Amino acid sequence: REFRIAVLPGDGIGPEVMNEALKVLRILKDKDYTFQFHADMFLWNSEYYLQHGRMMPENGLDILKNYDAILFGAIGDPRVPDDISVWELIMPIRKRFCQYVNLRPVKKLKGIPEQFIHQERPINFVIVRENAEGEYSNSGGRIYQGTDQEIAVQNTIITRKGTERIARYAFQYAKKHGYQKVINATKSNAVVHSMKLWDEVIEHVASEYPDIQLEKYYIDALAAYFVQRPDTLQVIVASNLFGDILSDLGSALVGGLGISPSANINPEGVFPSMFEPVHGSAPDIAGKGKANPIAQIWSAALMLQSLGREDLASIILKAIEKVTEHGEKLTEDLGGNSTTAEMGEEIVRQIVKI
Ligand code: NAI
Ligand code: MG
Repeated sequence: REFRIAVLPGDGIGPEVMNEALKVLRILKDKDYTFQFHADMFLWNSEYYLQHGRMMPENGLDILKNYDAILFGAIGDPRVPDDISVWELIMPIRKRFCQYVNLRPVKKLKGIPEQFIHQERPINFVIVRENAEGEYSNSGGRIYQGTDQEIAVQNTIITRKGTERIARYAFQYAKKHGYQKVINATKSNAVVHSMKLWDEVIEHVASEYPDIQLEKYYIDALAAYFVQRPDTLQVIVASNLFGDILSDLGSALVGGLGISPSANINPEGVFPSMFEPVHGSAPDIAGKGKANPIAQIWSAALMLQSLGREDLASIILKAIEKVTEHGEKLTEDLGGNSTTAEMGEEIVRQIVKI
């Protein structure tokens, strides 16, 4: 069947790295006649905002709803406040399409120069971040503003249902991908209401998966553990805020933002899922051909994996790793001097060879 993919390149380096991801998808299509896709491009970005006063058309979400997946670049422009670009484009997509799982694989690729890696041993784990509730809520407010009595309250929303579904996703993921343990990132020793419910629900779900071990770590200790023993990590289930922070830490462990992919998943498949690099629009290097396209290409691989084409996803991963291992076509962030297109095309060449 033909997959329908909505492509949103966004701003800055977004379109530059998206270009390379599209080259990769096209070569896979040429290589494998069983893989068919149709991509529609939507230029909903900061430029669009400056012209229309909104980040996407009024019926934007209705348009996206009909696609099998959304491949997203990055958004953000110095001329538009960041909270507008994030809250009027990315957040509505995540919320409306019930993308309550944010999945971030952290894998050390062969050949990434040592100065960018802080561990000799292999690293291959995944962070399953709750993406719909938790600490990132609109609930709360401020009183006595501007006075020295001022108080701000920010509520964390942890629900039994929301925690159960993210926990179940983490255990299912562990089972499907051959991991033996799930780590619960918590802070129930200090955050006694919300995090205690979180722990209880996760322990309950864990009891349905006797083959998979549950470990519990307080977030502060886990942060240290990330740095000292990342090779022993497997699947980590974390709340929205904790997962956000751990994700960037994880990315830093294996070579940085230029290679870190992510997926916003609606596991039921009722709505499209969205795949995007962890990085933003990088205005400091935009337009210079310096952006590393791996994060975007790897995100496309996560998309194929979620569309049931694990085979194609693994071809992409192999090709990426060939390129990092050879080390001749690396972008500046990895110590090389190749351009975005040179690296992307080298990945395409490797795919052809596989
Ligand atoms: P950023 O991720 O855009 O850049 C941080 C640093 O990493 C910069 O020095 C940049 O040059 C470098 N970098 C990022 N991606 C790279 C790549 N592929 N190759 C090589 N180097 C790369 O984060 P920053 O600077 O905090 O934010 C810039 C804009 O992006 C802001 O408007 C922000 O709101 C937005 N943003 C958007 C996100 C999204 O679309 N999901 C996520 C994060 C930030
Ligand atoms: Mg983040």
